[in-house]
Amino acid sequence: MTRLGYTKDQIETAGIDAYNYQGVGCPHLFANIKEGAQVLDVGSGLGVDSFIAAGACGSTGSVIGIDISKGEVLHANTRAESRKSENTIFIQADMEKMPFPDNSFDNVISNGAFCLAPNKERAFREIHRVLKPGGSFSVCCTTLLTRLEDQVNWPVCMRVFMPLKDAEPMLENIGFQDIKVDQSDSTMTLDILVPEDELDQGENNMQSSENSTQPEKKRQGVHVGSPEFSHLKDYDMDKLCARVTLCGTKPC
Ligand SMILES: C[S@@+](CC[C@H](N)C(=O)[O-])C[C@H]1O[C@@H](n2cnc3c(N)ncnc32)[C@H](O)[C@@H]1O
Repeated sequence: MTRLGYTKDQIETAGIDAYNYQGVGCPHLFANIKEGAQVLDVGSGLGVDSFIAAGACGSTGSVIGIDISKGEVLHANTRAESRKSENTIFIQADMEKMPFPDNSFDNVISNGAFCLAPNKERAFREIHRVLKPGGSFSVCCTTLLTRLEDQVNWPVCMRVFMPLKDAEPMLENIGFQDIKVDQSDSTMTLDILVPEDELDQGENNMQSSENSTQPEKKRQGVHVGSPEFSHLKDYDMDKLCARVTLCGTKPC
């Protein structure tokens, strides 16, 4: 999370829940959540970004996380209860059909979930509908840089990624303004310095990591080690896909 741009404060706010992180970027870099804001986290998973958002909007604001998976919602609500995060709830819902009235939220965040929606335009139209006029979204997702060859067995997630070139025209067409497609940190392979003593120990390591000795630098691959996708080993994932953050506002 540090590598992706989360601040020390945000990681401390996440606390032990940081170990449940499944994101592809840091939506908070562009989310601009203010005290008192009503925030929606789309595809909230186990709740990590929601808990960070709850810290940003404070007790006068609130966060709703939606996820299509009953299990993720159950876990996130259990964590919210034990964290005593009273301004945060999670509900099971599909991002393509959100159970909220129009103009409900000041901010929408999402991390690693839009990549998976079969119909991105429908999901972004839902964001436009539920945002208040002047409200903004910050969505981290993985996109395609190129057309995938039909005859290759690609992982199902890659088959539903949206072509990067389509993102901005789609958001314009929906009616967003101040659209930004941030590609400043878009590589699929990440060089992550993981202190050896953080690899298999518990939450106390968050404090101890600063004192750790520099570990060996390792390049992380994508789907490496999966026999089902061993035929992808010669593809350069950085040429096929890009992690981006899509941002925009709903006009007033
Ligand atoms: C890679 S995980 C990311 C979870 C979380 N945002 C995080 O960063 O830790 C993607 C999440 O999107 C959820 N998801 C996938 N399709 C969805 C949909 N149509 N509506 C709502 N959630 C969806 C999945 O259940 C999963 O929890």
